[in-house]
Amino acid sequence: MNRIGVLTSGGDSPGMNAAVRAVVRAGVEKNLEVVGIHRGYQGMIDGEMELLAARSVSGIINRGGTILHSARCMEFMKPEGRARAAEKLREWNIEGIVVVGGDGSYRGAHALYTEHGITCIGLPGTIDNDIGGTEYTIGFDTAINTAMEAIDRVRDTAASHDRIFFVEVMGRHSGYISMITAIAGGAEEVLVPERPTDIPALVETLRTGHAGGKTSMIVVVAEGDDAGNAFEIAQKVAETSEFKNTRVTIIGHLQRGGSPTAFDRVLASRMGVRAVSALLEGESGKMVGIHNQEMVLCPLSDAWENRTRFKPELLEVLRVLGT
Ligand code: F6P
Repeated sequence: MNRIGVLTSGGDSPGMNAAVRAVVRAGVEKNLEVVGIHRGYQGMIDGEMELLAARSVSGIINRGGTILHSARCMEFMKPEGRARAAEKLREWNIEGIVVVGGDGSYRGAHALYTEHGITCIGLPGTIDNDIGGTEYTIGFDTAINTAMEAIDRVRDTAASHDRIFFVEVMGRHSGYISMITAIAGGAEEVLVPERPTDIPALVETLRTGHAGGKTSMIVVVAEGDDAGNAFEIAQKVAETSEFKNTRVTIIGHLQRGGSPTAFDRVLASRMGVRAVSALLEGESGKMVGIHNQEMVLCPLSDAWENRTRFKPELLEVLRVLGT
């Protein structure tokens, strides 16, 4: 193998740059040429690529976002789009690729591998931490710390005004960010897509808190909750209870940006180095994960087949401590 490619795909996550840096530098160290593929699979189809040297990735380990840019590419979801992408990789003599992204990006890599024999290794880059085959994804730690800091700030004003706040965090299909953030932020309740939301039960929780002497409370709402978004839930609570003095904060994409934490930088660095050695060992159709502090390789399909992260014991911790 002489030349490999690296791309970031899907929603960006803090630490993607550290992963790109690691792939480039580990590749160069092994005498490989490393091509940066811009804008995910769209750039692969369009041939938006450039050779990267060790110095091309200087000064990016501390930066959020991705210098390669990212995209969710509809064209790549069709066989013709993937055929064009495979053709471009051949034109560029790229013999293996490292894809940093979430499970959607992995499905793409898997199809490229099975349909066109393109050698590929996936690195889990998403703030959602909802990928099977790894205990942590690149960006999750930064995102939960950002959300926690936001909740700390909300708590100050909530306490000053004796208000109930509904704080919406990201996670369209996964409540993992919200569960962890709710515990870390000392919230009273969390609403997650994995558990049907019961508004009367939520009102009862708030009443219990109030009766127990709480003058302000925080409810963390996952973006994908079945009862609606944080505004809709606050409205339902106001309409059906005495709790009218509520406010809503949507943290949104603030969680996707910012300088990655040490944890995410080190995770991305270790994973990037492991991805390059995996390619050189002849591995393909695999993802790098972390398990018990060690780097592991598992099939890409683990990412979507074992993706559930719902941990009822986390909800129990919150219930006990939120009283
Ligand atoms: O998958 C990462 C994520 O940030 C989810 O938490 C969120 O639901 C989604 O992406 C938002 O996507 P977009 O940036 O396209 O609005």
